[in-house]
Amino acid sequence: MASLENGNSFYFTSKLHFYLNGTSVEIDNPDPDTTLLQYVRSIGLTGTKLGCAEGGCGACTVLVSSFDPSTDKILHCSVNACLAPLCSVDGKHVITIEGIGNVKKPHPVQERIALLHGSQCGFCTPGIAMSLYALLRNNPCPTEEEIEECFDGNLCRCTGYRPILDAAKTFSKLSGDKNEITANSSESNASSQSNTCGRVDCCKLNNNFNGEIKFKEYDATQELIFPPSLMNYQPRLLCFSGRKTKCYRPVSLMQLLHLKVKYPEAKLVAGNTEVGIETKFKRLKYDVQIYVGDISELKTWEFQEDGLTIGANISLSAFQSVLKKACKHYQPHQIQIFESLLANLRWFAGNQIRNVASPAGNIVTGSPISDLNPIFLSTCKKFVVSSLQEPSSSKSSRDISPTAFWTGYRQNCLSKNEVLEKIFIPCSTRGQYVRAYKQAKRRDDDIAIVNSGFSVTLGDGNVVQEAAFSFGGMSGVSVRAPESEEFILGKFWGEEAVLKGLLKKLSEELQLGFSAPGGMATYRRSLVGGFMYKFWYDVSKSVGIKTTDFGDEDFTGIIERSVSKGLQIIGQTEEEKKIVGSTIPHTSAMKQVTGEAIYTDDMPKFCGELYGTLVLSKVARAKILKIDASKALEQPGIHGFYTAEDVPGNNKWGPVFHDEEVFASDEVNCVGQIIGLIVADSQEIAKEAADLVVIEYEVLPHILTIEEAIEHNSFHPFDKSLSTGNIEKGFQESDHVFEGETRIGGQEHFYLETNASLVIPKPEDNEIEIHASTQNPTETQLVCASVLGIMANKVVCRVKRLGGGFGGKESRSIPLTLALSVGAWHLKRPVRCMLDRDEDIVISGQRHPFLGHWKLYNNAGWSADLSPAVMERAMTHVDNCYYIPNFRVNGKVCKTNIHSNTAFRGFGGPQGMMICENILCEIADRLGIDFAELREMNFYSEGQKTHFNQILTDWHVPALYQQVKESSDYVNRRNEIENFNSRNRWRKRGLSLIPTKFGLSYTVYHLNQAGALVLIYKDGSVLVSHGGVEMGQGLHTKMLQIAAETLNVPIEDVHLMETSTNVIPNTSPSAASVSSDLNGYAVFNACKTLVERLRPYREKNPEKSFKEIVVDAYLDRVNLSANGFYKTPDIHFDWSKKEGQMFFYFTTGAACTEVEIDTLTGDHTILRTDLVMDIGRSINYAIDIGQIEGAFVQGVGWCTIEETLHFPNGHVFTKGPGNYKLPGFRDIPQDFRVHTFKGEYPNLKTIHGSKGVGEPPLFLGSSVFFAIRNAIKYARHANNNYESFALRSPATPERIRLACEDEIVKGAHVEKKKEEKDWILGV
Ligand SMILES: Cc1cc2nc3c(=O)[nH]c(=O)nc-3n(C[C@H](O)[C@H](O)[C@H](O)COP(=O)(O)OP(=O)(O)OC[C@H]3O[C@@H](n4cnc5c(N)ncnc54)[C@H](O)[C@@H]3O)c2cc1C
Ligand code: FES
Ligand code: FES
Repeated sequence: MASLENGNSFYFTSKLHFYLNGTSVEIDNPDPDTTLLQYVRSIGLTGTKLGCAEGGCGACTVLVSSFDPSTDKILHCSVNACLAPLCSVDGKHVITIEGIGNVKKPHPVQERIALLHGSQCGFCTPGIAMSLYALLRNNPCPTEEEIEECFDGNLCRCTGYRPILDAAKTFSKLSGDKNEITANSSESNASSQSNTCGRVDCCKLNNNFNGEIKFKEYDATQELIFPPSLMNYQPRLLCFSGRKTKCYRPVSLMQLLHLKVKYPEAKLVAGNTEVGIETKFKRLKYDVQIYVGDISELKTWEFQEDGLTIGANISLSAFQSVLKKACKHYQPHQIQIFESLLANLRWFAGNQIRNVASPAGNIVTGSPISDLNPIFLSTCKKFVVSSLQEPSSSKSSRDISPTAFWTGYRQNCLSKNEVLEKIFIPCSTRGQYVRAYKQAKRRDDDIAIVNSGFSVTLGDGNVVQEAAFSFGGMSGVSVRAPESEEFILGKFWGEEAVLKGLLKKLSEELQLGFSAPGGMATYRRSLVGGFMYKFWYDVSKSVGIKTTDFGDEDFTGIIERSVSKGLQIIGQTEEEKKIVGSTIPHTSAMKQVTGEAIYTDDMPKFCGELYGTLVLSKVARAKILKIDASKALEQPGIHGFYTAEDVPGNNKWGPVFHDEEVFASDEVNCVGQIIGLIVADSQEIAKEAADLVVIEYEVLPHILTIEEAIEHNSFHPFDKSLSTGNIEKGFQESDHVFEGETRIGGQEHFYLETNASLVIPKPEDNEIEIHASTQNPTETQLVCASVLGIMANKVVCRVKRLGGGFGGKESRSIPLTLALSVGAWHLKRPVRCMLDRDEDIVISGQRHPFLGHWKLYNNAGWSADLSPAVMERAMTHVDNCYYIPNFRVNGKVCKTNIHSNTAFRGFGGPQGMMICENILCEIADRLGIDFAELREMNFYSEGQKTHFNQILTDWHVPALYQQVKESSDYVNRRNEIENFNSRNRWRKRGLSLIPTKFGLSYTVYHLNQAGALVLIYKDGSVLVSHGGVEMGQGLHTKMLQIAAETLNVPIEDVHLMETSTNVIPNTSPSAASVSSDLNGYAVFNACKTLVERLRPYREKNPEKSFKEIVVDAYLDRVNLSANGFYKTPDIHFDWSKKEGQMFFYFTTGAACTEVEIDTLTGDHTILRTDLVMDIGRSINYAIDIGQIEGAFVQGVGWCTIEETLHFPNGHVFTKGPGNYKLPGFRDIPQDFRVHTFKGEYPNLKTIHGSKGVGEPPLFLGSSVFFAIRNAIKYARHANNNYESFALRSPATPERIRLACEDEIVKGAHVEKKKEEKDWILGV
């Protein structure tokens, strides 16, 4: 204990004390900059993952429990460990995934997620399990709605969420329904109307899809108890001093105020959800921090006669509870403001953030898109701020009105020694109506584009007496609209003319320039009008004014979704259900869900290990004039800085053309290009040093977009084209000739595990061992050898598993490993790096944006990477499923100064098909034909040739299209939609039916080969190795099934350790959906060899066990190890002659989707999707259904909310989950029915008659895009606009809203002035 330096009577200690998984922990003077995540991972609890470090993915979720003596209750909160300061857990109990169960004794949450196929790559899974666990700790019997809501801060990139929800809902009150289950189906999830069966071994799961699963019963009394000693915990003033920061943790307001006098510049930290981002990503430095999250006076609340007072640092989730209580406590007319706050808090971040973030943090930050401030601005009268009065040292307080609080962009009127203590929220008065609206790209866990707080008080005859309209996102700070407020005073609410005038006034008052920060000027102004419209009708309805001819169904509220439900029908015959064909869960699922699965960065530290950080280009194109790392090298803990000059071998590499440098030598060609590598003792030290490297550039002009590349004739070498028929003649004979353009955005892979690599040099023989998260171990090995100037036989690359890949780790994982290899080589010490999310996005490239305009263009970025091959696949898929007799397609690969775009699930195929389907839509629109009919009329038929001269065999698309049409009840629902749309002015529904055909094989001939090695040991156990990488797709599980069935042994006796280049050489990357086909046959061939060798012993002793036979064979000196090899037969395509067979076969499918859009905001929801996929005879239906659902949801993201954006200077805008939105749990179809097609395949020669399934379903996500397009068409027709229109993908809320082109949008239009530039660009 020591006294506080300013001589007063406070004492502090530097010992942090808490419990971790039931064990007491005491740390002396921890570094205040350490997060809870860094700490738990540093002590080996690596089950908690780092996915983003910004609270946006939930991979780091842990439970923090604390005792509240005032209520005598224990609070259990899910928390983002990546943002939680370690020193915030004093006196609390932290539970990580390791604390709730393990593989031997899993927690019911873990067991059910694993067994119900809720874990694919598994990187998100511990975080998801912890969110559910947190819910159950607070509420052992939650409703299905509560379960869906508990995941609003978690993302999964693999599963498509349905199986996780299934598993979670087995804990719900409504865990079963009485719907009939067909013998061949798995009806998952009860709808909200369903009845409960209440059993953990719910009958719905005991069907042929999930097998006879008996789950452990969930018994809440068996949970880890809250440590009794913490019930008597006395909060103490703490002080910690770290390398850079000093941190105090006061426990009373007076302590805080004293500290504020002593350290007026000190940064207060509450939930750290703003400050954490500032320090990590904006690199702001706060030397002294004061953690205010444990000050009880700042967390109180009180109901007063005229309103509610809350402590400024109450958590947002506690604030929600208080508001709910207030809604019950006060009269109905008094709760309008409370209800509005609740409405916006529902969409405020995710649970983990709301559990720690505070209103004070939101108010004091003063973000222009704060969700609370507009409501406070329009309804509240006072914020209470306090400080210490000198010299009396007593507390003094003053009230500040919200209208005076914010003084500019993220600025407020607090003086340095003041803190925000309380917020007074008044009760609404009679006649007062208050509403809040928010529009974001994604509804859950997303910051607003525009938000608002509206208040109006109506007197007799609905005359407006008071009005306050506030908006966020319309300026650098939340603003009121005084002129519009003034305009409406004294007018009659409900008069159409008044509304028109008000909208006009608002539009005049809230102006935005075209290049205003945030972009989207027209959309943002449209939202202002749209919200006002909603408010107008909402209030009118409340006071009983009839405002519209559309009746009750004319929704103006927000789109609400029901609880998701799903159906999976796998159409499998009994005889198919052996080991191959069984639906066993992913063999690593239990390890993944318990956190025991080891990913690259989870490996324990090696002796002498160092950390590498990349020094990246900050300009889009420039000559490098000078690199000065002297300051960086002076820092303690730095071991070296390496650039192009330090590369011992070849600095050039590239997956096809060697057009990239490991370290840029003379010129940089994009922001994020690697220039150097800093190697240091730790990540923190390396990062700080990297910031100190000074690079002088001579900036050169750059090109970012496809359009700019066309204008400047900037292309990578690529001159392939495909054609069939006679295009000129075709045009001459056509009744109609239409021209059009399809523009498609890129997509970030957002695998939950960022690229990670650990390079271990072995100086004895100049060997290098690499552990990398790569889909391409062989390429990593070969290029590393070339860069280091050694032979490939000295380099081994090992891969245990990846936390997702999706193509993003096929080639773009390699640059990181190369850079680290150079550092490790020189230092002769292991060097590791796991990229931060923003680095990963900036460095590693994305799905190619495309422009289809007669020719196809893709934006390859600065180097060719795999872009030419991506273009080839787009060109071969641009026919989708249609016979086009006269056809010519050319491709151009644009060279720009953005990151090098790369493989992404589908590899250009989806973009090609998207262009085709857009063309069909336009034709249908212009000819006035139903889309579905037009498609059917043009389908290929069996035996017809594609434009690359491949004859279609086993062609089931017309049949499966018909199946979807019938099972989705397409015709009737089309009529219902017409009916719905005619009754609703501001909501429109749309329906689409989209087919897909995806070619299986690498288009690069030599990649269509694979090897395997199968070893049988004397104890009868089998070890399988093959060339494929496990990245969540269940490849290893399928390989084990094939081996077990071929050898006729139990699958438990077969094991697979890792993928390693010193076991299987010259592997092809795990990509193109052919890994199971290629490696499966290789494993099968190896096993067959062994079966043949063992046959004599089996025949001699049929009664003997496998182990006994193996021993007999061994004693007889039989080789019990066998290689297997496979090369895909029949394929070869000669591009010059356009001859040969391009693909081995096609995987096909179709989907019908219905959506509803809110035409006032551009919001949408997917009401239902029916999907049929032809996957042949599956090796594992459960895994394949997982691939179908996951790919579909990824496809939905690609063409709806996932928008990659760049600043005009070439920096990426969307470089984290804050700005780049993946679909979340509540973005999937509300009703999702997946069927597998049962067909005859006389020509299919794949392993066990299975088909590749990883990529093909992705394009069916576009059925959502086309359903949205259809809904927009109805909205346009309602405005008498019958012109055909092109909808750019993705169909973001902005694009949906603007495409509706109604009066509000027209009134909001912002013209681009000559000198104005876009604030952000789609490239
Ligand atoms: C993933 C994620 C999602 C988010 N989503 C949303 C969203 O949907 N809507 C939204 O509006 N915001 C959102 N935010 C922003 C943020 O969560 C909120 O602004 C939150 O309210 C901040 O609270 P905090 O306690 O974490 O603040 P901190 O980060 O702890 O502090 C923020 C600022 O407030 C100051 N401060 C804190 N307490 C006091 C006090 N008592 N007196 C004086 N100053 C004080 C701090 O010094 C600091 O300057 C999100 C953030 C993240 C990371
Ligand atoms: S790592 Fe913490 S939320 Fe993503
Ligand atoms: S399983 Fe969820 S991200 Fe891979």
